[in-house]
Amino acid sequence: MERLQKVIANLGYTSRRKAEELIINGKVKVNGEVITELGTKVKLNDTIEVENTILDNNKNYEYYLLNKPREVISSVSDEHGRKTVVDLIDTNERIYPIGRLDYDTTGAIILTNDGTLANKLMHPSSKVEKKYIAKVSGLVTGYEIKRLRDGIIIDGKKTANAKVNLKKYDKKTDKSIVELIIHEGRNHQVRKMFEVIGHDVLKLKREKYANLDLTNLKPGEYRKLTNKEIAILYSLIKK
Ligand code: URA
Repeated sequence: MERLQKVIANLGYTSRRKAEELIINGKVKVNGEVITELGTKVKLNDTIEVENTILDNNKNYEYYLLNKPREVISSVSDEHGRKTVVDLIDTNERIYPIGRLDYDTTGAIILTNDGTLANKLMHPSSKVEKKYIAKVSGLVTGYEIKRLRDGIIIDGKKTANAKVNLKKYDKKTDKSIVELIIHEGRNHQVRKMFEVIGHDVLKLKREKYANLDLTNLKPGEYRKLTNKEIAILYSLIKK
């Protein structure tokens, strides 16, 4: 038994908040009966109809790994008409990205219509590892690397321990390349961490999300996940 608004969201019809509005406005039927009470529990085999569309409980889920290019927004649509990650994928399913990368960040992002997996992976309690490579201004000192590793206060809260290593410092250009492995997903987290220690992030790339890296994917390219990769993602959210 699951709450009706959650099931509607998980089936990829819309967000949970919009699903709540639809329920309150009498747009949702369960087994042919209009339901307006939020939190009504439904069973797997109940027929759910939203705005006269019957939702398919047995739909085929799709899972993609995209190497997001720069200047693409990580959402389903954009009010300013900018290109979105969904625009880059050729599908008729209502897929959406799991989490976000900034407009100018490149790298690994998963898109799916599997709301259960997406919600669990995006939840703060999920400790999925993400590996980033940042090109930043100036020399990042050993002391600063330690601060990044041990946690730094951003938005009033300390970041969790991270694996951080200086990969390279180019004296001529006065720029550093730093690798970070973090398991939180706070807003603009990497940029803010560097801001606190006084370095501008000039380029940011997510090289790996959980078990998925960018092998054979140029920016803008994508591929379907294998069954094994999907199973590994599911095993991560069960912990
Ligand atoms: N941290 C950031 O600052 N930006 C991203 O896009 C991802 C992580």
